[in-house]
Amino acid sequence: MTAFKRTLSALAVSACLMPAAATHAGEVEVLHWWTAGGEARAAAALKEMMEEQGHTWKDFAVAGGGGEAAMTVLKTRAVSGNPPAAAQIKGLDIREWAKLGFLTSLDDVAAAENWDQLVPPMISDVMQYEGEYVAVPVNVHRVNWLWVNPQVMEKVGVEIPNTLDEFFTVADKLKAAGYIPLAHGGQPWQDATVFEAVALAVMDSDTYRKAFVEHDMDVINSAVMEEVFAKFAKVMSYVDDNAAGRDWNTATGMVIRGEAAMQIMGDWAKGEFTAAGLTPGEDYLCAAAPGTAGEFTFNVDSFAMFSLSEEEDVAAQKDLARTILEPKFQTVFNQNKGSIPVRTDMDMSEFDACAQASMETFKSSADTGELVPSLAHGLATTSYVQGQVFDVVTNFVNSSDKDPVKATDQLAAAIQAAK
Ligand code: GAL
Repeated sequence: MTAFKRTLSALAVSACLMPAAATHAGEVEVLHWWTAGGEARAAAALKEMMEEQGHTWKDFAVAGGGGEAAMTVLKTRAVSGNPPAAAQIKGLDIREWAKLGFLTSLDDVAAAENWDQLVPPMISDVMQYEGEYVAVPVNVHRVNWLWVNPQVMEKVGVEIPNTLDEFFTVADKLKAAGYIPLAHGGQPWQDATVFEAVALAVMDSDTYRKAFVEHDMDVINSAVMEEVFAKFAKVMSYVDDNAAGRDWNTATGMVIRGEAAMQIMGDWAKGEFTAAGLTPGEDYLCAAAPGTAGEFTFNVDSFAMFSLSEEEDVAAQKDLARTILEPKFQTVFNQNKGSIPVRTDMDMSEFDACAQASMETFKSSADTGELVPSLAHGLATTSYVQGQVFDVVTNFVNSSDKDPVKATDQLAAAIQAAK
């Protein structure tokens, strides 16, 4: 055998020994903002599953809850012609990126994996541009949750509040006993997260939709909106004085340690309780944000896929898209992240009680019409309107007079200008 033939046959043998995927091994660079405890564990599950398939994971994590910083960095990278393979982009923004020609079609993966059958149409619609999949949904977060430290509640002799009025009574008692009633971080997206929970408590889901999805000016500029701002101001009065700039997971830590009794936050907060080894129903409690039982504010994380030039990287990107909707990933990721699977056919017995309750309410609220998109997390409207609402809400939180009539006028003007 000549040296040349020997080399060829050695190559042939080693090719046979290699796992199938590795012959197409490529690199995926993935932009996300999952840097808190539970989030990082969830992201690590995806990395691991990509590496198992022989691909290289290039982590592009940009810290900052809610993703505002990540989106700024993404724009810079994309404009300079160097976008990542995948980026966490949500809601209507997916279409904006597709319209600009940045995204690639995932229709071959979607057809082969039957995505149309796996994901509710309300979600799969958002993942498509002109009838083609350009993004893959990862999970469903419920945003209107109240996280509670039961030991603190017991010491003070109070129960979980079911309505806003009950919340005010309970919070007064907690405050009198020396606890911080509501853990919160003063950042625009966190302010908006509490604001939309209060809005959903004051309004019914139809009115919420008219205001924040359809931007019906009669609803936005109304006495009901003034009541939303008035109640929101009262809720925020139970936050401590050091909240400015505090990260959401630091606020969750305050509930975990028993410095604060409650937090209104999406169920990525549960990822923090889980990462701390805590059990729902014992060490912490989850309940609907006061006044929103049966309603479900949804926030769907999704990865939009950018056009790439290298064949191996395209293969890796398609494997990433396929892996995300596989049952194994959906279970491991969501157990760590605090969310529920985006596939509605999943066995929920391996999930904790909060996730099971979330899935139940997700399904029942879809039937009753009480399933509404989150404004604070980019599912209800464009990022332009969202940004305007953030400004008005955060200015309101930081103003000394907190005038609900003035804030309603400002909100109306801001939405009118941006819609
Ligand atoms: C949300 C996002 C979640 C979580 C949270 C805090 O907008 O959908 O996945 O990361 O921000 O950063």
